Amino acid sequence: MNIRTVSTTPFDDQKPGTSGLRKSVEVFQQPHYLENFIQAIFDALEGCEGQTIVLGGDGRYYNRQAIQIILKMAAANGIGRVLVGQGGIMSTPAASCIIRQYKAFGGIILSASHNPGGPDGDFGVKYNVTNGGPAPEKVTSAIYDRTKEIDSYKILETDDVNLDKLTVMRLGEMGVEVIDPVEPYARLMESLFDFDSIRQLVRQDFQMCIDSMHAVTGPYAKNLFEKRLGAPQGTVQNSEPLEDFGGGHPDPNLVYAHDLVEIMFGDDAPDFGAASDGDGDRNMILGNNFFVTPSDSLAVLTANAKLVPGYKDGLSGVARSMPTSAAVDRVAEKLGVECYETPTGWKFFGNLLDADRATLCGEESFGTGSNHVREKDGLWAVLFWLNILAATGKSVEDLVRDHWKTYGRNYYSRHDYEEVDKERANELFERLQGMLDDLKGNTYGNYTVDYADNFSYNDPVDGSVSKNQGIRIGFTDGSRIIFRLSGTGTKGATLRLYLESYEPDASKHDTETQTALEPLIEIAQKIAQIREYTQRDEPTVIT
Ligand code: G1P
Ligand code: ZN
Repeated sequence: MNIRTVSTTPFDDQKPGTSGLRKSVEVFQQPHYLENFIQAIFDALEGCEGQTIVLGGDGRYYNRQAIQIILKMAAANGIGRVLVGQGGIMSTPAASCIIRQYKAFGGIILSASHNPGGPDGDFGVKYNVTNGGPAPEKVTSAIYDRTKEIDSYKILETDDVNLDKLTVMRLGEMGVEVIDPVEPYARLMESLFDFDSIRQLVRQDFQMCIDSMHAVTGPYAKNLFEKRLGAPQGTVQNSEPLEDFGGGHPDPNLVYAHDLVEIMFGDDAPDFGAASDGDGDRNMILGNNFFVTPSDSLAVLTANAKLVPGYKDGLSGVARSMPTSAAVDRVAEKLGVECYETPTGWKFFGNLLDADRATLCGEESFGTGSNHVREKDGLWAVLFWLNILAATGKSVEDLVRDHWKTYGRNYYSRHDYEEVDKERANELFERLQGMLDDLKGNTYGNYTVDYADNFSYNDPVDGSVSKNQGIRIGFTDGSRIIFRLSGTGTKGATLRLYLESYEPDASKHDTETQTALEPLIEIAQKIAQIREYTQRDEPTVIT
């Protein structure tokens, strides 16, 4: 066995963000860049020698090369066995499912999620721990610390592995299994949902359109919806994973999933539409001419969970990220279960799920999931919706409108200012931070500030504290304005402004969202002087 030890020097920008290390492909292709980070992972993980790890990615440009490098480095670092997805491809929720099913030590997932791919796009590396979920902060910090002092990495000199054939082989002394990444995941889905009644729904006069956006979910969606559930061929669009996602931006929202939006908001639109992102953990749900906000989606799933076999015994609790609307809070209250508010990022749900304090979790950023894995799960959410539609016989729109009638409507929107100057963005935050103590009691039109703070989270399971998780300005009527800086962008800074207002009166549930939020948008401008600091008149993306 020929293990080479290669000298290297640290890169100073390998701090994992909201979801792993995410950089442009160009950055990752610098000599030693990927290798340093992978070696830092192996160095930081105590006891990984001889263990099984899972490896796969969303199929974006540089995925295959990175998989070969990681396999050879794993072999050189004494890893016992690597389970790699066929073609090097595995969706993020499937990786989580496979880590758990095989009781693996952890997994390395190559993805920059919803960021564009291709030679000019982004690439990313995430490490997931034994529970199948994203590494918690103490692990990512240990990896980061290691990247700062690394001086060499180990790699096996050997031929590339054929990733396309399902096989069991050896690479040096390490076992490699190229596995079908779809089957274990599809079986897990069958164990949670009533496939018979969804099949019946799909056979009736019910039309749906699933957009995989040329990203990782294509093969999963074809297997689930067309093969197992009997939807007509072609139900899944853009189903072939491409290295550059067909030039698209694989983010399932009203802006980037435009093909689907055109179909779902056109004449004769199907009854149900859904899209998922680059690595398959996000979802967007649409009805005929109707958009379901992710925050409402979480609330509707929670309210109807008893209709779904996997959740029929009730929920232990629910959790949402802080910027996600409080729609689910009202459902939790009615159900008499706890509702947790966590910082942005799925890793914060891990402890709550492990401790069985929460069963369903969600984020406003098109992420929904449950304790079935430890990642958010796009196709799981689609199946959950289909199961509820089959069980209730209602349309998507009726289901949501009825929900609003019962619980009131949380008007909600996120405004992103992308690629703004980092320094100016920081200045905006510093200024806001300095104003917080004086905002309470201030009145803007009909709105009076109830509280203003920088969100801090005390994890109720392990007692860890995460500070500075976003600036919240809450008003006495329950409305909220939140400011955060993105932890996943790769260019400049992305300012996220989250807006929420609550309307209990059903006769006022037909206002267009941006119109309903107009007063709050103006207050946010006034308080934070967004235009001046970002030098943008309008947000780049509104979701
Ligand atoms: C964004 C979303 C966040 C999500 C993360 C990974 O992070 O806002 O909810 O968990 O992507 O998909 P951000 O860029 O805001 O740090
Ligand atoms: Zn994703």
